[in-house]
This record gives sequence, structure tokens and C-alpha cells, in this order.
Amino acid sequence: MVPKISTLSGYLHEYQKSIVHPEIFWERIAESFHWRKPWEKVLEWDFNKPEVKWFVGGKLNITENIFERHACMKGDTPAIIWEPNDPSEPHKIFTYKQLWDEVNKFANVLKSLGVKKGDRITIYLPMIPELAIAMLASARIGAIHSIVFAGFSAKALAERNNDAQSKILITADGSFRGPKTIPLKQTADEALHMSGSIEKVIVVKRTGQQVRMKEGRDLWWHELMKNAATECKAETMDAEDPLFILYTSGSTGKPKGILHTTGGYMIYAAYTFRNVFQYTDGDIYFCAADIGWITGHSYIIYGPLLEGATTLMFEGIPTYPKPDRYWQIIEKFKVNQFYTSPTAIRSLLAQGEEWADKYDMPSLKVLGTVGEPINEEAWHWYHNHVGKGRCPIVDTWWQTETGGIMISPLAGITPTKPAYATLPLPGIRPVIMDADGKPLKGNNVEGSLCIEFPWPGMARTVWGDHQRYKEVYFTAYPGKYFTGDGVKRDEDGYYRILGRIDDVINVSGHRLGTAEIENAINEHPLVAESAVVGYPHPIKGQGIYAFVVAPARPGNLDEELRNSIRQGVAKLISPIAKPDKIQFVSGLPKTRSGKIMRRILRKIVAGSSDYGDTSTLTNPGIVNEIQKGFEALKDG
Ligand code: WT7
Repeated sequence: MVPKISTLSGYLHEYQKSIVHPEIFWERIAESFHWRKPWEKVLEWDFNKPEVKWFVGGKLNITENIFERHACMKGDTPAIIWEPNDPSEPHKIFTYKQLWDEVNKFANVLKSLGVKKGDRITIYLPMIPELAIAMLASARIGAIHSIVFAGFSAKALAERNNDAQSKILITADGSFRGPKTIPLKQTADEALHMSGSIEKVIVVKRTGQQVRMKEGRDLWWHELMKNAATECKAETMDAEDPLFILYTSGSTGKPKGILHTTGGYMIYAAYTFRNVFQYTDGDIYFCAADIGWITGHSYIIYGPLLEGATTLMFEGIPTYPKPDRYWQIIEKFKVNQFYTSPTAIRSLLAQGEEWADKYDMPSLKVLGTVGEPINEEAWHWYHNHVGKGRCPIVDTWWQTETGGIMISPLAGITPTKPAYATLPLPGIRPVIMDADGKPLKGNNVEGSLCIEFPWPGMARTVWGDHQRYKEVYFTAYPGKYFTGDGVKRDEDGYYRILGRIDDVINVSGHRLGTAEIENAINEHPLVAESAVVGYPHPIKGQGIYAFVVAPARPGNLDEELRNSIRQGVAKLISPIAKPDKIQFVSGLPKTRSGKIMRRILRKIVAGSSDYGDTSTLTNPGIVNEIQKGFEALKDG
């Protein structure tokens, strides 16, 4: 197990060590894992290239560090507790031994289909145990998994299949989500028309609904697993061999395939899991995220399982059948650590206090939040009504690209402050940069959040586009990793994340690029152009506000057109990307070089009229028109 910090002075001491001697610090943590061949060098890095390598020359397999490593001690310990969408369906428990067998079986299935080390596998599954089994089986044989959140559209899935050139797609007949049954295979079929690289499709039977199975291409999971052997030797991986790709939105262009490698990611996920949540052996840990996002990768699967923990995986939604489902699950399984998003907290708060107040939840020790800034009201509600005033809250700041938590309290150790992610974890060196690209020293400062030294869990590249990796993360502040977030360091040296400062919107903790949404809106035949910005939303954190130029639209059908634009976006990206508000405008504020000045639009939707300098606009008059239209839409 990784070393566990247990006091504040212990944290300060470890932090100091990690800054003065980072290589010695991380080497000590890496030593708690099983390596087939030790590393020759701890770290090689150059943020200007950029290039980062951890544990150079080391050989290992991450699943060996989950299964073989825990086999004798933990074979009968529950690894995954799976709670279905419908509370009347029985839950399932997989011990480490049972999960290992399933993973080996599916690894053998993949091998029998010709999957080799380095091949890409797309996994498009709901939150069912097969999702965990498929990802671990992929890692077992050295294939690279690319998990696509099951709420994404056919077009989004196809785009990801093609970018990764995946050979295999794993999906399900359908999925259960609250009261709905969703035809997942049907969406996958649509994507498959546009996904030339996929050779085989493996289909899990979950809902039992009718699906089309294409002869020679589509295979049932349960049939393939019937005769698969339960022994499968883990592939030897280099520390820097890819483990997975996970697509995420950026401020420009199509989603980026963030690439994480094996050795560094493993150590970072395990170390941060153990320390932030202060997990003690025997605890039941429940992260309510979806494995389709990085939170699920690092803190439902890899982190907890590497530490021999019991991790709870929930198929459903917090409001089904009633808005007390999380609290019910916490009591049913005596959950000790619970990790969710501010959006979930705000939406449950909005359902009324009585739902959480009915449950004592005496097992709870730690509460966590992630994905977006948490407002103070939500923080206090979580603390008082869920944690009953006795559970520390860990507000964990990190990103898909960071692989694991970067700035966060250690539960029960770091004194917390509502809405503050507090202090950096050992090994993490944040710097705050001003508008001129200078680091801001001292406290009481605000600026762009950068990280100036590598950490083991950081992404190594954008799949197939290293140049883009360099441009997006290492160009704004040369020699530093730029996060895209604004941040404040207060008088105590505590960090408060202020939100994205690039063209990324964070809707309910889901990250969406404005350009991506605009492209989808512009596909509509009646739309000439559009501009999308985020605006403050009481539940979702940010809502999506679209300014749309549609000169040829029929005069009396604005509402219908709005709906049809929304449906178009759902179809091209996902229902989560649908604009909340659509304002028709006759033009957009543009600079002489034709760039849309989103800054002004952001001000308008935030209710401010302090637009700054508008003299560089080719059409300054448009600002007034847009402002009036905004007021009308707000009141209407
Ligand atoms: C962005 C990353 C990391 C897993 C989920 C999201 C925002 C994340 C916090 C927090 C304020 C946060 C940032 C970040 N964010 N955690 N505790 N407080 N903001 O991963 O989709 O890669 O999004 O989420 O803006 O850059 P992601």
C-alpha cells in the first residue's frame, strides 16, 4: 500500500520533501508497487518540448498491481459492489478473486479476437460491471481503452472511434437510467456506419431489448465468455506505454484524446486516493461519477482497486425512484466515503432538505466534491445535512489531463474553508500567473493557474497530435503547464478555483467546448452563425447561452426553431450540450479580423454592462441590440 499521511505536520513534511527532492519522494511511493523490472531513472522532463517520462525503463502491468498484488491478503474482500438502477433488482458483489477471474476471461476473449498490445478498444457502456471488467481486461493485455460516456451521440462516438482507430467496440443492447430504457446498441449501430476501423462489436445483454446483430461483426458478451479460461498472464508494459485515451473538450476544434501512460498514472491514482479520502482498509467507498469521465477512471476503478479498497459502482441516477437514492445506498452498504459533484449536491438540495434529513448515515466519515467550483450554500448543505456536521469535505480540484487530484484537503487533516480546494498535494507546484505572464508571488493574488513541475499522473500527449498538446498546455506560459482555470490564493495561502478562463463551459461538471457547440448549431439549415457562452446557472453551475444569427427564419416560429436547434445539438454531441437559452440576433460583435468577441457576450449574460473597450469592433452598434434582446429574453 502507498504511504499514508495522518497528520497536518506529516503533510507539511511530505510536501516539503516532495518539492526539495521530488525524485526521492516519488521513488519511495513507487516502491510500494510490483514492478517486473525496476526503473533506471525516476524522471526525465522538458516542458518546452514538451516531454515527460516517469520511471524510465520500468516494466509492470497495472492489473497485476490490482490482482496478483492483493491475491493472498484480499482475495475474498469485495472489490466492487454494484448497485443497479432499479432498487428491487439485487445488487452484485465481486470479490477481488471473482473480479480477477472475469477480467482474465474477458482478456482471453479479446485475445481470441486478435487484439494485441497497443490496439485501441472503444468502450461505450452504461455503469454495469462489464464496464469495469472490459477496461481492466484491456489493460491486462496491453490494449489501450478509450471509454466513451454512454450519453454521447452516435456522431460523437464515431468521431472518437475514428480518431483512435479502434478495432473493437464494446457496448450493450440498452441501458437503464432512472425510469428510462435507452437503446444504446441502436446508437452504436448508427455510429458504426461512420466507424471504418471497428472490426468486431461485443454486445452486453443488459435490458433484453430487441437489437440488430450484424452477422460476422456483432458478438454477444455472454456467449464469448462462456468458455473463456480464467487464467491470463498479464502483458509486460513499459512504464511509459499508453494505458488509456480519454476524450475531452477544449476551447477549439474537436475533442482531444488525452493520453495517460501506465506507471506514473498508477502511482498517482493510488497515492491520491489513499491520502485525500484517508481510506482505511475495510471501508466502503462510493464515488457517484460515471466511469465515462476521468473521475470514474481514477476514483471508481484504478485508485481504489490498486489500494485493495471496496468500491461501489452505481448504475442509476440520484433521483430515482426518489430523490433519496444516494442516502439509501449509503445506509444500505454502510458507505464510509462519498464523492460526488456540486451539481448533484445543488439539485438534491433543491428537492428539499427532508430527503437527506430522514437518513442518519452514521457510517459516513468523509465527503468529497469534484468537477466545478462549489458555492458556499451547497458546501454548507452538504456538510450539515449529508455529513451531519461531522464529516470533513474534500473539495478536490483536478482535470482529465492531470490524471488525479492536484489541490485538495486531506480528509480530516487539512483544515477546510467552504469553496476552497485548499492546498496542493505533495509533489504539486502550482503557480499563479498574471496577464503579462509573470508569476504572482505571495498571498492575496489572483490569476491563471499553472503547474511548474511534472507529476507522475499528468497526461503525456494528445493522441495523434503532439503539436496540439504543446499548443494547448505549454504555449500560453512557456515552460509551464497551463490548466485553463482562474484561481485565487488567499491570505492563508489557500487556493480557490474561480472557473475556466478559456472557451470551455462547465455544465453540471461536464466540460464542453464553445466551438464544438457552435459547430453543431451551425449545422442547422436556418442558422448562418452562432456564438456560445456560459452563464451563471443555479443548479448546473453554468448554463449554455447561444446567440444565433438566422436571418432567413420564419417570423413567427422562433420557439419551434429553438427546439429544432436543441435537438440538432443533442444529436451531434449529446443532450448535455443542448443550449439552455437561445437568443436570435442580427449579427455578432466582431473584430476587424473577423473574430467573435466572446468577452462582450460573456459580460452581457452575466448581467454586466461594463464591456471594456469596444472600439476594435467593426459593428459596435450590435452590442446594444444584443443587450436589449437579452433583457427581453430574461423577462419573457
Ligand atoms: C475542469 C476539469 C476532474 C474530474 C472532473 C472534471 C473544473 C474540477 C474542480 C473543483 C473548481 C473544478 C475546472 C477544471 N473543476 N474540479 N474542485 N473546483 N473547479 O474533469 O472534465 O477534465 O474538467 O473542471 O475548471 O479545469 P474535466
